[in-house]
Amino acid sequence: MDLKWVDLIVDRHQEKRTALVSILHDIQDRYKYLPEEALRMVASRLHMDINEIYGVATFYKSFSLIPKGKHSITLCLGTACHVRGGPKILRELKNFLHIEPGQTTPDRQFSLNVVNCLGVCAIGPVMSIDGKFYGEMNPMRAKRLIEKNNRKRSGVKS
Ligand code: FES
Repeated sequence: MDLKWVDLIVDRHQEKRTALVSILHDIQDRYKYLPEEALRMVASRLHMDINEIYGVATFYKSFSLIPKGKHSITLCLGTACHVRGGPKILRELKNFLHIEPGQTTPDRQFSLNVVNCLGVCAIGPVMSIDGKFYGEMNPMRAKRLIEKNNRKRSGVKS
């Protein structure tokens, strides 16, 4: 694994311990997860115990210690989205991607997560792909959006 980006990211944050969360976010943006080697390098550069770094990395739900897919799918199953059909959408996503929430497809294209609220309850059920929100979702539309992302990746025009 090429760790030069870790060095550059730590440099960009001027080796400040107070910037640890930002450093971890930048590393995850680059590698799509927090590789152990990267965390060890951060610990060394910030003169911190590796267990402290792991403590922060496991405290925040947004961090992942296992590789994530190229595309991040997040489905809301909070009350407002649940009563409007969230569970049916989850069933469709699981069937289509053949993964459970918290998992990544074997080709590392898609990661699936569920949350309790995305903060836009009025347009529920809500799903996000790579941070872009899609409201008034239904199982068929969710599947089409993923197929569309898959076509983009393979260069096929829709
Ligand atoms: S409950 Fe789904 S966005 Fe709030």
